[in-house]
Amino acid sequence: MKQIVVIGAGQMGNGIAHVFAQSGFSTALVDIRQESLDKAMATISKNLDRQVSKGSITEATKTETLQRLSTSTDMAASCATADLVVEAATENIDLKLKIFADLDRMAPAHCILASNTSSISITRIAAATQRPEKVIGMHFMNPVPVMKLVEVIRGYSTSNDVTSTILQLSLNLGKSPVEVNDLPGFVANKILMPMINEAIYTLYEGTAGVEEIDTVMKLGMAHPMGPLRLADFIGLDTCLSILRVLHDGFGNPKYAPCPLLVNMVTAKKLGDKTGEGFYNYADPKNPVVAAFFQKK
Ligand SMILES: NC(=O)c1ccc[n+]([C@@H]2O[C@H](COP(=O)([O-])OP(=O)(O)OC[C@H]3O[C@@H](n4cnc5c(N)ncnc54)[C@H](O)[C@@H]3O)[C@@H](O)[C@H]2O)c1
Repeated sequence: MKQIVVIGAGQMGNGIAHVFAQSGFSTALVDIRQESLDKAMATISKNLDRQVSKGSITEATKTETLQRLSTSTDMAASCATADLVVEAATENIDLKLKIFADLDRMAPAHCILASNTSSISITRIAAATQRPEKVIGMHFMNPVPVMKLVEVIRGYSTSNDVTSTILQLSLNLGKSPVEVNDLPGFVANKILMPMINEAIYTLYEGTAGVEEIDTVMKLGMAHPMGPLRLADFIGLDTCLSILRVLHDGFGNPKYAPCPLLVNMVTAKKLGDKTGEGFYNYADPKNPVVAAFFQKK
């Protein structure tokens, strides 16, 4: 494995590219939007600076990491010499099916095609290609440079060789991989998203306000951040997409997304990435939104 391509330079793509480049791989970051690429490089640089100031890496490692990174809006050119592609584009099934059909034509025959999808079936994504045995889920956690877990998801046709390669590669990145089967939500989001959805229902039903719900879960359950803060951090659009995959995949009403979440996504209040979700990041003096749910 020498040449890695990461598709999608959003919050996950920039972290994935950062980790591969820091581990010694030549890494190309691809997005359809130049502004996403520029923002991603600025974020990687800032995060490397933070690692240097904490003493976890040297200035030389930072320079070498940046030298191993390149950016492009030309997916075909970037993939022509790829050994591994990790797709981290928007959580949308039609988009991912199109990207994987394109990647199958553009990437060399030996290239492994991985998806960082939070919930979409790897088997379904693999079926968009002529190489389903080389398609696998490589689900990093946010923020990627910090979080140790990689959920490695075997599709129905993923080969043993490809699975072993990706498990070993994850270890080489300093991560702790866990192998799981391809069922809706895999493990992480099958458990996390119903909790986040329940927190949104708790707000929606008026049991408590945003800060109260998050405080209960932080202080009472020792969670490092409350579920509503975490939902903003993940992106409310991504949370909604995952809940819909769970709801469709299992046909169980317990996964039905809360109407408040649906409304917030429709209103483009997506959390950190748009500056407003359950909290208002643009106005620190007035941090909590959802004024509809005032305490009595
Ligand atoms: N946000 C999280 O906490 C989290 C955690 C684990 C996994 N994921 C998964 O990672 C993936 C990306 O999520 P994100 O939070 O980084 O999203 P994001 O919205 O921050 O970024 C998505 C990026 O994909 C780009 N994009 C869209 N179409 C593209 C295309 N055809 N080719 C190339 N780039 C394209 C967009 O321009 C954008 O920059 C999703 O599948 C998501 O489910 C997210």
